[in-house]
Amino acid sequence: PAARPLAGRHVVVTSGPTHEPIDPVRYIANRSSGAQGAAIGAALAALGARVTFVTGPAAVPPPEGVEVVRVERAGEMLDAVRAALPADAAVMAAAVADWRVDGASGQKLKKGEGGPPSLVLVPNPDILATVAGMQAGRPRLVVGFAAETERVLEHARAKRLRKGCDWIVANDVSPATGIMGGSENAVTLITAMGEEEWPRMGKDAVAARLAARIAEALA
Ligand code: C5P
Repeated sequence: PAARPLAGRHVVVTSGPTHEPIDPVRYIANRSSGAQGAAIGAALAALGARVTFVTGPAAVPPPEGVEVVRVERAGEMLDAVRAALPADAAVMAAAVADWRVDGASGQKLKKGEGGPPSLVLVPNPDILATVAGMQAGRPRLVVGFAAETERVLEHARAKRLRKGCDWIVANDVSPATGIMGGSENAVTLITAMGEEEWPRMGKDAVAARLAARIAEALA
């Protein structure tokens, strides 16, 4: 049992980018590879958790041994997360698009007399804040990520409070770090109890350490 401390636990993980349609053939996206999320899904499953892995269109394949739910848009991701609950913990590692195109076209937009179309953006739901704020059925542990390029800890602390999640995994994604799209990560785990700066290590090692901490917290 010690080797599988998450046996009998259910964890929902979000991962990857979202794609927000402009029309049936075009979309707005971001550069998230889904690597850190996939590593977290694998690490939780390795500790015995039942993992529902809700993923946008990621560059890396989903891990083995998890239940994969594929989505495209942020709205679909939120629906899939809600449908996956109840869970003991939720780890939101997805890079969710902050905005979607209002009234995405049902037909391919055509070049024409009117010149280029204007896109009106509207805010997407915040999945992390929604789950963290649930009055009923909130997972016992809700973990978010804060990828920042400046004043990382300050922004991440504020984010933890604003979103109402229990833990924030903060990391510096400035281009000079090579973290975005790379195989390593350097994070600080921020909880109500304090902050732990972890040395730079592989994304798999970050995931293993985070999964171990989640197992401790749920024990
Ligand atoms: O606000 P920001 O995007 O920096 O917050 C990042 C954290 O919030 C990540 O854990 C991400 O998965 C989550 N998030 C979310 N839904 C959004 C935006 C962010 O779940 N619409």
